[in-house]
Amino acid sequence: MVDQTALARRFPKSFTWGFGTAAYQIEGATKEDGRGESIWDRFATIPGKTHNGESGEPACDSYHRWREDIALLKELGATAYRFSIAWPRIMPNGTGAVNPKGLAWYEQFVDGLLEAGIEPFPTLYHWDLPQAQQDRGGWPLRDTAQAFADYASVVVNALGDRVTRWSTLNEPLCSAWLGHLSGDMAPGIEDAQAAFSASHHLLLGHGLAVRAARAARPNLEMGIVMNVGPAIPASDSPEDRDAARRADLTDSHWFHDPVYLGSYPQEVIDFAGVTMPIQPDDMKIISEPLGWHGLNYYFPAKIADDPNGDGARTHWGHIDGPKTDMGWGIDASVMRDFLIKLKTHWKTPKIYITENGSAWPDRVASDGRIYDPERERYLMEHLSAAAEAIEAGVDLRGYFGWSLLDNYEWAYGYAKRFGYAYVDYATQTRTIKESGRAFCRLIRASRGA
Ligand code: FCB
Repeated sequence: MVDQTALARRFPKSFTWGFGTAAYQIEGATKEDGRGESIWDRFATIPGKTHNGESGEPACDSYHRWREDIALLKELGATAYRFSIAWPRIMPNGTGAVNPKGLAWYEQFVDGLLEAGIEPFPTLYHWDLPQAQQDRGGWPLRDTAQAFADYASVVVNALGDRVTRWSTLNEPLCSAWLGHLSGDMAPGIEDAQAAFSASHHLLLGHGLAVRAARAARPNLEMGIVMNVGPAIPASDSPEDRDAARRADLTDSHWFHDPVYLGSYPQEVIDFAGVTMPIQPDDMKIISEPLGWHGLNYYFPAKIADDPNGDGARTHWGHIDGPKTDMGWGIDASVMRDFLIKLKTHWKTPKIYITENGSAWPDRVASDGRIYDPERERYLMEHLSAAAEAIEAGVDLRGYFGWSLLDNYEWAYGYAKRFGYAYVDYATQTRTIKESGRAFCRLIRASRGA
């Protein structure tokens, strides 16, 4: 068992402690105040795509209950809140006309956070592309990169006087590979060329948005949030070790290399047999220096060589041992090692762990509490790994637990609970779980409060 008081002392007093959510997963009110349709609203109507056909309506109704959510953050001791801004609320048609009601909502919300002494830490794109932009071609189309930068510029102009730290994209890997290759997420396309084109235009959109935001307000700290599932070879054989290397090329390297080294791993282009729609200057735009880097880490991948497997000729699975309710394997040391790799290999700027957490089949006990020792254990193990990374010289500045609330877990619908607060969807009541209480004690101990 981790000594939580000792653990708290391993983080600097200035460390950022927060919780994360995303607009589509919590807001609900998908048809209110002029919001346009998003690709997730559409995807959820396709039979078989989401658990029980569930959508982001009503989610946690945070569009109306945002004051309660801020109070919850305060109660948990958060110093920052990572949330996302819904592009379809700001520009319902993807481009062109701005919806003033959409902007006004986020302005009041940001003001509410600031009044509560909580730093707003917004993401500009957490997967909810306006459907109108999808109808014009979506991320496989180059124009979508510019449309994203135009939207970013509108938001930054409105909120950049109050918000310093921004991320452009959340997990471009999921948007590209799960949205366009496996089809497991919106927009549900299964086409390798579309997926690779989408990956490039997502990153180009990121670079253009960084430039647009800095043009509007030079002092902003711009960053990007990347998820990784670092590969563990299934055995010590040279074949499996090389398979793991190839898997990392399509996972972390495909997205980190262009941003931090200015190029894509050529080997991936070769084995995927795709054409990259790269135009002069693109790589320069994509590798625009950043102010910070966001890491989302949940699980490692167990990779075996498989000549009949996916594009990288690999078989992908989970490591042995206990699994979370998502079926995900657990190994915090992989997160520590990846944090060190971010520093040594990609030489990223300062790092925030922007997502980390676990789903468990929570139940409300007869005393009204939610006892979730597995989530607490997962948290403490990963915080220990984060502390080890700091001790190894990684410039880690903050940790955001995923998630503040149980919420709409994309294709898994409402079946999976990641929250530090339990949501009773029938009444929308929020109750802090025992893990949330433990986290809160650690935050207060670390801050000397
Ligand atoms: C990440 C997503 C986040 C949430 C967690 C569990 O990939 O960014 O929205 O669904 O997984």
